[in-house]
Amino acid sequence: MKWPADRISQSSPKSFGMYEKAMVLMADGKDVIHLEVGRPNFDTPLHIKEAAKKSLDEGNVHYGEFAGETKLRTAICDKLRSLNKLDASVNEVLVTNGLTHAAYAVFMAALDEGDEVILLEPYYPQHINKIELAGGVVVTAKLNSDDNFSIDKAAIEAKITPRTRMICVVNPANPTGRVYTKDELTIIADLAIEHDLLVISDEVYEQITYDGHLHISIASLPGMWERTFSMFAYTKAFAMDGWRLGYVVCQQKFMAALMKITVNDVAHVNVFIQEGAYAALTGPQECLTEMLADDDRRRQLVCQRLNDIPGIVCPAPEGTIYAFPDVSSFGKPCSQIANEILEATYVVTEAGTFYGPAGEGHLRICFGAEPYEVIEVAMDRLQKYFAT
Ligand SMILES: Cc1ncc(COP(=O)(O)O)c(C=O)c1O
Repeated sequence: MKWPADRISQSSPKSFGMYEKAMVLMADGKDVIHLEVGRPNFDTPLHIKEAAKKSLDEGNVHYGEFAGETKLRTAICDKLRSLNKLDASVNEVLVTNGLTHAAYAVFMAALDEGDEVILLEPYYPQHINKIELAGGVVVTAKLNSDDNFSIDKAAIEAKITPRTRMICVVNPANPTGRVYTKDELTIIADLAIEHDLLVISDEVYEQITYDGHLHISIASLPGMWERTFSMFAYTKAFAMDGWRLGYVVCQQKFMAALMKITVNDVAHVNVFIQEGAYAALTGPQECLTEMLADDDRRRQLVCQRLNDIPGIVCPAPEGTIYAFPDVSSFGKPCSQIANEILEATYVVTEAGTFYGPAGEGHLRICFGAEPYEVIEVAMDRLQKYFAT
C-alpha cells in the first residue's frame, strides 16, 4: 500500500519552530513566556461575539452562499473602497477560512507543476507548504538587510525566470515589521507588469501600523488590480484568530477557478460566524483603536528594553506585532541564541533563520500575545541572559 501521496512526502516538513520545543517545557510545568506565537492578546470584542450568537439563535444553521453571504461581501466591498482604495464588486470577493485558506486557494488555482513563486526573504514560512502542495516551487529573493529589510529590485529581478508565475508580498511584513512604502510596492508592481506575473498580497496585518506608517494595498497601484490577489483576515486586528475568517479579492475572471478549490474543500465558510464578521466591519471601530494602542505600548516597551541591552539593535517595527532585533554582535547563530534563551529563561523567541537564511543574526519577538506585565518579566529575563 502506497502512503502518503508524493505531494505530502516530497513537500517540506511542517514546522512550528520554537513552539514545539516550548511545549516540552510547558508539559514539564515550567513558567514559559510566549514571545513566539503570533496571536492577539485580546478577547474578540463583545458586539462581534453577540452578533454571531444571535445569528446562531435565530437558526442560521443551514447551507449558505458558496462565496460568502452577500450581506457580508457587500460590507467588505465598502471597507475595501474606504480602507484599501479597491473598487471591487460583490462578485470579486470570496470569504474564506482565514487568510491561510485564501492563500491556499490562490496557489492551488494559479500554479502548474514547476511554476515558481518568489517569496521575499526573510519570509512568512507558512506559505511554503501551500505553494509546494499546489505543485509550485519556492524561489527566494532577499530583502535589503542593510536598509531595514527594504524591497530590493535587483534581488527580485535576478530571480525571475520563464517559470516565474507569481510574487508573494506580505505587507505589513512578518517577521520584519516593515510597512512597505509606495515606492517599494511600485518596484514589485513594475516587475510584475513587465514580466506579466501575478501578485499574491498577504495583508493580514493591514490595520496594525504605528507612528503614522500607512498601509497601501498593492492592488490599488496602477495596472495592479488586473493581476493581484489581495488577501485579508479578521484574525489579527479584531482578535478573531480562532474564528477562521478572511477573504480574498480579485478580478471576477479569476473567481471561478478559486471557487473550484474552496467549494471542494469547505463548500463555504460557516454561516453564523459571518454575522460576527459583518458586525466587525459595520459596528463600532473604537475597539480597534484601543487594541492598537495597547499593542503600541507593548511595542515601545520591547523596543526600549531590547535597545537598552548592549549589543542589541532593535529598529521600531512599523507594523505587525513583531520586533526583529539584530543580535549578530553576540557572534553566535541566532538559533543557538534562541535555544539558550529558552533553556536558561523559559522565554520563547523565534530564531530569525526560521524565516529563511536571510534572517540570520536576528530574533523575532512577538509583543502581541502576552500582557504588558508578562512582557516586562520576559525582558528582565532576556536582559539577564544577555548580560552573562
Ligand atoms: C503573514 C501572515 N499571514 C497569514 C497568517 C495566518 O492568518 P489566518 O490565521 O487568518 O489564516 C499569519 C498568522 O500569523 C501571518 O503572520
